[in-house]
Amino acid sequence: MKKINIAMDGPSAAGKSTVADILAEKLGYIHLDTGAMYRCVALKALREGIALDDAEALKEMLSRTDIRQDTEKHFFLDGEDVSKAIREDHISMATSDVSKVGVVREDLVRRQQKLAEEKGYIVDGRDIGTVVLKDAEVKIYLTASAHARALRRLKQNQENGISTSDLETIEKEIEARDYQDMHREISPLTKAEDAVEIDSSDLTIDEVVDRAYALAAKFLE
Ligand code: DC
Repeated sequence: MKKINIAMDGPSAAGKSTVADILAEKLGYIHLDTGAMYRCVALKALREGIALDDAEALKEMLSRTDIRQDTEKHFFLDGEDVSKAIREDHISMATSDVSKVGVVREDLVRRQQKLAEEKGYIVDGRDIGTVVLKDAEVKIYLTASAHARALRRLKQNQENGISTSDLETIEKEIEARDYQDMHREISPLTKAEDAVEIDSSDLTIDEVVDRAYALAAKFLE
């Protein structure tokens, strides 16, 4: 069957990762979680005491950084499984900070483009349809209200045994991160002109998956 690439952008906790996982399974594709790559960069910078806006130091750090994702969606930072560590709440805001830095974006965008060269990828992030895979056959912009997203993030943290803030704090953090991600100078989160918007606030995961699948199916005959 013909293989395509699917770009999935949207604000944090809109359900991109869950939907991309299910869709990848259905299509036999690889789900590339680019947010996790930025999270790995933030984690390493924090561990090394590098300021999150120090472009020179971050560039040097990246030149000796290996980031990998296995088929089970585990993330390895220089060989260490950091799948849980990168999901901690304090890493989220640090990631938003580090993702503003041009050299970090350039480096990770290159890595992502190289991975998706072969097609058969569902890539989720903030700049996939607008920068990383401008020519992706299907572009989806998945969104939901801040409240719906905070509820989901809280549940997710609890289920995964990750230390978590209360609902109100999570919602405030989500709004702050949205603002920062949408207003940064380089590649701000924005819907690509040719992306299809899906608001998941009042939809089940299956309903979102069905809509996304229908968009992909057109290209698969
Ligand atoms: O999807 P996520 O919540 O794991 O993303 C973490 C942060 O990384 C988010 O604040 C924005 C940033 N990010 C980005 O700037 N570009 C991407 N392609 C993916 C994530």
